[in-house]
Amino acid sequence: MKGMAAGPFNNMPGRLALMKQLVGVVDPDFVLETGTFQGRTAKWFRENIRRDAWVVTIESAEKIAGELPHVPGIAYYKGDSGELVPRLVALAPPGARYVCYLDAHGSGSLPLRREVEAITEHVDGVIVIDDFAVPNDPGYTFMAKPRPGDRIPAWLRAARRSNKLLGLGDYTGPQLDRRLLSRWRLNGWKPLWPACSSASEPPPRTGCVVLAPRSLYFTLCQLPHLRGARRYPDERSHKRAG
Ligand SMILES: C[S@@+](CC[C@H](N)C(=O)[O-])C[C@H]1O[C@@H](n2cnc3c(N)ncnc32)[C@H](O)[C@@H]1O
Repeated sequence: MKGMAAGPFNNMPGRLALMKQLVGVVDPDFVLETGTFQGRTAKWFRENIRRDAWVVTIESAEKIAGELPHVPGIAYYKGDSGELVPRLVALAPPGARYVCYLDAHGSGSLPLRREVEAITEHVDGVIVIDDFAVPNDPGYTFMAKPRPGDRIPAWLRAARRSNKLLGLGDYTGPQLDRRLLSRWRLNGWKPLWPACSSASEPPPRTGCVVLAPRSLYFTLCQLPHLRGARRYPDERSHKRAG
């Protein structure tokens, strides 16, 4: 939604570099995106993963889903990602690796919890949640209920007029920040955060969290574009890989 501008990942170079690194390290068999919107991020994934890997992307808005171009290697699903993601990941082939980009939280509902709990239970890989508050970097924007008097940005007013978007101003879910993670069943997956300062990203400067299972956490901690906890939060004596 904020990714309305021309490129993938809300046109943020730091995010793009982070995603390139993640895709390189995970080498996914599947990319699972929620919230296709105009399909720009899906297309980027398609161009940056192996040819035999698949991009699966889910969009609930009828009008948007009906207008998406056919691209070989991208499977579009129309529906509520909160319903579809648990069904899809329950069918994941054994050993398949996923990059999950969760970005379907522009409306009143918040499918995230169901999505994250199902993914961390059934698959290996990483989850990136867009619009998430980044600890110690308040310059990043994130989803929160609008407060009385909040100004709706001009781009969002225009998007609503064109009947393309569910409005951010209608969001009624919880604030997307790390407190939320402690309420979800993460099956041992842990958060990492973008290392790039918000000051070097252009608007809309959305934050994100990366969730990784134990099998990948230490490898990801070494990446220049990510920062993790100094040690695995529930493990006292782990030696860092490498
Ligand atoms: C922020 S936009 C996605 C932007 C896109 N991922 C990109 O990077 O270009 C959010 C999209 O999620 C869709 N959406 C909202 N709730 C959804 C749900 N429960 N299931 C599937 N799609 C949803 C909206 O219609 C909107 O197109």
